[in-house]
Amino acid sequence: MAQPLKRDCGPPPLIHWAIKEIPEKPMVELLPSILSADFAHLAEEVAAAERGGGTVIHVDVMDGHFVPNITLGPPVVKSLRKATRLPLDCHLMIENAEEFIPAFADAGADWVSVHYEACRHLHRCLELIAQHGMKPAVVLNPATQVDLIRDILHMVHHVLIMSVNPGFGGQRFIEFSLDKIRRLAELRQEMGLAFRIEVDGGVAHDTVTRIVQAGADLLVAGNAVFGAGHPEQDARALLAEARVAAGE
Ligand code: DX5
Ligand code: ZN
Repeated sequence: MAQPLKRDCGPPPLIHWAIKEIPEKPMVELLPSILSADFAHLAEEVAAAERGGGTVIHVDVMDGHFVPNITLGPPVVKSLRKATRLPLDCHLMIENAEEFIPAFADAGADWVSVHYEACRHLHRCLELIAQHGMKPAVVLNPATQVDLIRDILHMVHHVLIMSVNPGFGGQRFIEFSLDKIRRLAELRQEMGLAFRIEVDGGVAHDTVTRIVQAGADLLVAGNAVFGAGHPEQDARALLAEARVAAGE
């Protein structure tokens, strides 16, 4: 059963994972997005993407309000939790995200990201995610400027830059996202923080090198991994290109 929301009472928020020093450059990671997988065979699809080098599974949660599409919720996350040991990165494209944080925690989510554009009380929401033992992140739509989240950057495990408008897989990469990645990396350096930079949308062979060179290290890919029906090989090939671009 979902627990009631924890509000501003009790002990201070547990942002225990907040990184205060810049560690060595993080390894580039591939996060297969199950949005483009065969939902009738999710466990097999995820296992194949993992064999191909995926290290975190990206789970797109859509409510038909914030974005014009509906996908899945905590029950599917709960089933996925039993199917893989990889961390589950839940990208919430929903309104009233705060109300659902306890349910995602109960279901076994590891990372939870909420949209700047959908969260009226973003600071509270990030605290709530951390209080539930998950890694909080903020997502920016293509039209949202990076500098708007400056004041909460110390609270996040990662920032997710949307490089397409959220709602669907298989869209074309929006080129100016590269400038946003660079700006975010610059802010991270200036502020002495170590949050990671995730990119979601249109990550594929023709874009991955430039995305990594701009400074992203968490690469979400749906269509490029699952779209052609051979997730293991396609994940492996995409990750290999990303590693070359990162100089790994
Ligand atoms: C879109 C989702 C993405 C989607 C990306 O709203 O957030 O995670 O799966 O799909 P591709 O990689 O196909 O652009
Ligand atoms: Zn996503």
